[in-house]
Amino acid sequence: MSDLPGFFQGTEMPTAGWWPALWPDPAGVLAAIGIARGMDVVDLCCGDGWFTAPLTAIARHVVAIDLDPAFLEAARRRVMATGAINCTFIADDAYKLAERVPGPVDYVLMANAFHGVPEPVRLGRAVARVLKPGGRFGIVNWHKRPRDETPVKGEPRGPRTELRLSPDETAARLAPAGLRLATIVELPPYHYGAIFAAA
Ligand SMILES: C[S@@+](CC[C@H](N)C(=O)[O-])C[C@H]1O[C@@H](n2cnc3c(N)ncnc32)[C@H](O)[C@@H]1O
Repeated sequence: MSDLPGFFQGTEMPTAGWWPALWPDPAGVLAAIGIARGMDVVDLCCGDGWFTAPLTAIARHVVAIDLDPAFLEAARRRVMATGAINCTFIADDAYKLAERVPGPVDYVLMANAFHGVPEPVRLGRAVARVLKPGGRFGIVNWHKRPRDETPVKGEPRGPRTELRLSPDETAARLAPAGLRLATIVELPPYHYGAIFAAA
């Protein structure tokens, strides 16, 4: 459990080893949730950059944000190892997104973190402020299944059962921020992508 002030509960990075087993094709996930070549993208709560690195190969520019400077540094190293130079790294709270991102973007990605956000309307408003007209907010969430039923490498994984959100619950949390659910995509074995547009 992180002791950083403002850390979203249940969003620690996984212990080494099982993330690549669960997400063997991060670029395929990005394509499935509608991230396309040439977009300007924010990777919100980027962690150690498992999705950030393939994002830089697709996007025109990426802003990677994480509260934890150690994980942000790991993301920076992972991106630099690819040779990409189109990524900006920001150590800050996700709520500060609109103050820290320099210009409007086509897509904000939040993978494996929304379940822990205590003020989703505040976050949704911040996201809506940085989206270009027609922009999208893509949330990758664990399905609302008991944690015991989502093993990876032989052990139950992911956030506690009671933190997990269905697509409808996710949409209800963001509707007051003026974000409407546009598309849901399945991301087997245990996740879905919920893609929002400004209403
Ligand atoms: C489970 S990890 C997911 C990382 C990455 N999105 C992925 O799917 O590989 C969640 C990340 O959210 C970050 N985080 C937690 N609270 C945050 C906050 N208030 N603002 C920004 N990042 C936060 C954590 O430091 C962690 O790196």
